[in-house]
Amino acid sequence: MGKATLGRKVPTMGLPVAVVGAKVQGKVNFCTVAWVTMVEDDPPRMAVVMGKRRRTKDGIRENRTFSINLPGVEQVAATDYCGLRSGYETDKGEVFDVFFGKTLTAPMARECPVNIELTLDDIIELEGTDIVIGEVEEVYVDEGRMTSGQPDIDKLQLLMYLSPGGPYFVKGRTVAEAFQVGKGFRPR
Ligand SMILES: Cc1cc2nc3c(=O)[nH]c(=O)nc-3n(C[C@H](O)[C@H](O)[C@H](O)COP(=O)(O)O)c2cc1C
Repeated sequence: MGKATLGRKVPTMGLPVAVVGAKVQGKVNFCTVAWVTMVEDDPPRMAVVMGKRRRTKDGIRENRTFSINLPGVEQVAATDYCGLRSGYETDKGEVFDVFFGKTLTAPMARECPVNIELTLDDIIELEGTDIVIGEVEEVYVDEGRMTSGQPDIDKLQLLMYLSPGGPYFVKGRTVAEAFQVGKGFRPR
């Protein structure tokens, strides 16, 4: 099969979408991010890539804590809203029912089925974006979305985002077991 070339650009990719929470000058703020990843298992560290002007990042610098909330299908409009409006102009403190965990300053969105509470490790400044790296302090999961003590992906219905530009989607059918299906593979 022939290959089309698309030029020097990041192609279409399915990404998880998250809502980052932080307290800024005493006010709760949330910001939608699709550029989110884990960076280490032990210690457990995650990173989000944020634009230069993000009110939420001001709060992360201020308190050195933040949250990464994983929204489900029911939170799709609220998630989009937190990505359309900036805390510089709009008070987003009422978008979610907020709770706090052990850090006391990282606001988390109760409606999101998974909440990750982090302390700030480092901010790596790039030309157009900053990579915000945090250490995971605690993970909160809705009890009703667990099976045998583990988060259940079919019950969680976590939101994904097709970059760039959307749409939002959720996991489709399972294709194969990871770390398993490749065992019988033989290269040509
Ligand atoms: C689907 C979606 C994904 C987004 N992903 C990112 C991202 O990965 N990083 C980022 O800095 N902004 C991202 N944004 C834009 C921010 O959410 C937006 O600029 C927001 O208004 C920032 O809010 P704040 O200034 O209150 O922090 C995304 C927006 C949407 C709708």
